[in-house]
Amino acid sequence: MAATPIAVVTGASSGIGAATARQLAAAGYRVVLTARRKDRIEALAAEINEAGHQATAYALDVTDRAAVDEFATAFRTLAVLVNNAGGALGADPVATGDPADWRQMYETNVIGTLNVTQALLPALTGSGDGTIVVLSSTAGLSTYEGGGGYVAAKHGEHVLAETLRLEIVGTPVRVIEVAPGMVRTEEFATTRFRGDTEKAAKVYAGVDAPLTADDVADTITWAVTRPSHVNIDLLVVRPRAQASNSKVHRTS
Ligand SMILES: NC(=O)c1ccc[n+]([C@@H]2O[C@H](COP(=O)([O-])OP(=O)(O)OC[C@H]3O[C@@H](n4cnc5c(N)ncnc54)[C@H](OP(=O)(O)O)[C@@H]3O)[C@@H](O)[C@H]2O)c1
Repeated sequence: MAATPIAVVTGASSGIGAATARQLAAAGYRVVLTARRKDRIEALAAEINEAGHQATAYALDVTDRAAVDEFATAFRTLAVLVNNAGGALGADPVATGDPADWRQMYETNVIGTLNVTQALLPALTGSGDGTIVVLSSTAGLSTYEGGGGYVAAKHGEHVLAETLRLEIVGTPVRVIEVAPGMVRTEEFATTRFRGDTEKAAKVYAGVDAPLTADDVADTITWAVTRPSHVNIDLLVVRPRAQASNSKVHRTS
């Protein structure tokens, strides 16, 4: 009997990562959930196992290269890596943005993705059929006022995905980039505005049906489960009410 393929999901403690872990598990992968908050990924792994699927949890900060390398030693082969850990800090204009925020966003979104991808690439290649997903954003494709540091970091992640695809062509690993627009997750905007839930709520105010974490997880799972020779290079997904980063229809 063939072994169950393994999928590693970073940032699986909330939002899109948690939803993706649930959906990949239901699609037949043994999912390895990683994030810094151990209690949350352990609870989610228990939920997935109770549902009759397979999951384990491993606490990991993607910016800690030594910890990432240690984590990677557990894998001789790996089918799927979803680089989802990331996020935004602040919405200040370039003129006044805090360089510390810019640095942290670059560290998490770009270097975090680089760390995990480098560490797990041998196992993905060794599987003979590996898939790397990079969860960038429409902020990685065009800019918007107040996006500054996040836009710069997500452009970096986009470039990482594009460059890696060029460099590893001919190996049995594909690189899929999923770039969502507005997704209403419980933590993304609250983290961006450092716990200010009023400011966070304004991001989605009057928008008829922003995307949900499940919508994006569905997109990721669809892309990952295409036949091996089919590479979805870049998939942009937005809610119907959003035509661009700055053109959003609001009813109020
Ligand atoms: N929501 C949106 O509108 C939207 C749109 C486009 C793209 N995205 C991207 O989609 C991804 C997920 O976003 P989301 O909306 O689901 O946000 P979220 O709910 O805030 O989730 C972010 C996840 O990243 C993890 N994380 C953050 N820093 C980490 C680190 N240093 N090491 C390991 N894990 C870390 C967090 O877990 P811990 O805190 O437990 O470590 C959490 O699980 C992000 O890359 C985000 O930029 C979001």
